[in-house]
Amino acid sequence: MRNPGKNVEVTINNLIVSYNDEGPDDAPVIIFIHGFPFNKSMWNPQSDALKDSFRVIAYDVRGHGNSENSNTKFSIDLFADDLVGLMDALNLDSVMLCGLSMGGYIALNATERYPERFDALILSDTQCIADSPETIEKRKAAIQNINENGVEKYADESIKNLFAPVSFTARQKEIDAVKQMIINTTPQSLCNTLLALAERKATCASLSELNIPVLIMVGKEDKITPPEAALLMHKKNRQSKMFVLENAGHLANIENDYEFNTQLREFAGTVTKKSFVLSDTDGN
Ligand code: MLT
Repeated sequence: MRNPGKNVEVTINNLIVSYNDEGPDDAPVIIFIHGFPFNKSMWNPQSDALKDSFRVIAYDVRGHGNSENSNTKFSIDLFADDLVGLMDALNLDSVMLCGLSMGGYIALNATERYPERFDALILSDTQCIADSPETIEKRKAAIQNINENGVEKYADESIKNLFAPVSFTARQKEIDAVKQMIINTTPQSLCNTLLALAERKATCASLSELNIPVLIMVGKEDKITPPEAALLMHKKNRQSKMFVLENAGHLANIENDYEFNTQLREFAGTVTKKSFVLSDTDGN
């Protein structure tokens, strides 16, 4: 039985997971997975624009947003199992899946291990390679920084790298909201997730073999997972489509929501053999 709305809860793998479930009952389903350390509200520009034609589900990854934390060791495998648990709980056999950054790592892991559960994959500002030794060292330093100086300082430092320069003048409200998402994440969850990110495996080989439509998007000024990382994924999956979004850094879905939504809507429309026109709510 569907329970539509915002901040709905379901228990999966002994954990309370919070999700938004909007759009018509019989519409094609897209599940959105947020980046680190954000929450499902980062997908509001997409749910607002797409919920007329799609059933849009965005959930909080374990330890983020309103989903419960747990003492279990975090891993991208565990996060992908939670995703499939959520699909099972909602009686969804197969869906289109969209992940940004960490959400992309989870999506790539899930499509590698459960390929039959996904009809299409949208990867935004993410990568299929594992962390380099330098990045692992930076994650360890970030853990130390959080433990010594607190979450607010970590949030301030993170914000500097997340956005394109133009967003600091044009998107201040959104930047403040993203900072709040970071601050609302507990230090324990931040540190556990940083370790999970550092330990994740590469997924480039399985991306090459993935036999579903793939859309890759990246902000032109993404410093964390730059356009070269997107291009590598595009080369691995020859059938994929790739778009570089202007005026966007790492959070392309927020910084250039109009272009992001346009590409996403067209792609999802092709997958579901429907064509959709942009509604007024999509415009900037
Ligand atoms: C994210 O946005 O999910 C993170 O930047 C991912 C990462 O640090 O690798």
